[in-house]
Amino acid sequence: MRNRLAGKVALITGGTSGIGEASAELFVREGAQVLIVGRSEQKGSAIAERLGDNAVFAPADVTREEDIAASVNCTLKHFGKLDILFNNAGGPVGGKGLDGIDTDTIDYGVSLLLSSVILGIRYAIEPMKANGGGVIINNSSVAALRYRQGDNLYAALKAAVTHYSKMAGVELGPHNIRVNVISPGAIATPIFWGGSARANTLSDEENQRKFEKLKGNLAKATTLPSAGLAEDIAEGALFLASDAGRFVNCHDLVIDGGRTSLFNE
Ligand SMILES: NC(=O)c1ccc[n+]([C@@H]2O[C@H](COP(=O)([O-])OP(=O)(O)OC[C@H]3O[C@@H](n4cnc5c(N)ncnc54)[C@H](OP(=O)(O)O)[C@@H]3O)[C@@H](O)[C@H]2O)c1
Repeated sequence: MRNRLAGKVALITGGTSGIGEASAELFVREGAQVLIVGRSEQKGSAIAERLGDNAVFAPADVTREEDIAASVNCTLKHFGKLDILFNNAGGPVGGKGLDGIDTDTIDYGVSLLLSSVILGIRYAIEPMKANGGGVIINNSSVAALRYRQGDNLYAALKAAVTHYSKMAGVELGPHNIRVNVISPGAIATPIFWGGSARANTLSDEENQRKFEKLKGNLAKATTLPSAGLAEDIAEGALFLASDAGRFVNCHDLVIDGGRTSLFNE
């Protein structure tokens, strides 16, 4: 531990699984106080307990604006300020193909993947300005960059997240608020077997079996001989969140084991 986030307060959405859970763990290890949010109360409470006094779980559904506002308020109430917001929550949005897409699917996708980020930024601005600055990291995807890395709706919404983040970084940079995205690719998490909500319905053994199988498959899907792990994205988030990233703004940090170079269409 190098205490790279000593004295910092972070809010991580989707901290109950995969990339968000690994980021919460790393951030706490690096000295931050972290508010974890997600829908799964059982998992969130267990993770916060495991991480100790510097982690608190608050249930929230990021498709609901009031929950996003409450998450920011809860961070301020527990820890007194907000330095880092990692808008990470997300999952499959049930794309149905160009000729099968319907309004309910679009609305759900927009609220889970895009509105959650836009509103997260909105509610973080005031406390970050009051704090003299901050860091916002939004989880996008390599699907924003290449065809066939996710269904079309998911890919288009992630592309919107990337572009919105860059524009937000331009406007918030003068307030010492940096806004960046991470674009993960081929990271072994439950998103590949239906998302965290489905993983919650399976036994630990079944989830572990799926994880091991997925790691084997993803190891063949990039330029490198092993699969990407949630911890690899957490390290990227740590870089962006810490002072090491102090001059990085409006950036898309692609962490995909070279997958976007492998699939160039
Ligand atoms: N794994 C990859 O290769 C990959 C690649 C590109 C982008 N991403 C992005 O990375 C992010 C994290 O995904 P992951 O791979 O870590 O998947 P994951 O293990 O399924 O985790 C998803 C997280 O999002 C939370 N979440 C989902 N819907 C939510 C909602 N309505 N309200 C609040 N929280 C919600 C889940 O918590 P609850 O179930 O407790 O609500 C869970 O903590 C997502 O934005 C995903 O699109 C992942």
